[in-house]
Amino acid sequence: MPSITFLETGIVIDSPEPIRLLDMDDHITFACRAGNCGTCTINVVEGLQHLSALTPREERLFALKGQTDANLRLACQCRVLGDVTLR
Ligand code: FES
Repeated sequence: MPSITFLETGIVIDSPEPIRLLDMDDHITFACRAGNCGTCTINVVEGLQHLSALTPREERLFALKGQTDANLRLACQCRVLGDVTLR
């Protein structure tokens, strides 16, 4: 059961199955929901290995923005497969 912890608010969400972070839109700000704007960029503090692989849309957007931090992901693009802590 994946568990998602939001470090700044202390909110913890347990999901019975792998979940796309986009589906928790009460806790993450979104705009395009398609990997185009970067509004949903999250910083993964722990559990990066428990997220689905980087998508081509994430690679494209991060390259356009010059973001090279491997802990950044787009919540609208990645799925949580195990426990993660986000900032
Ligand atoms: S909501 Fe625009 S990139 Fe995720």
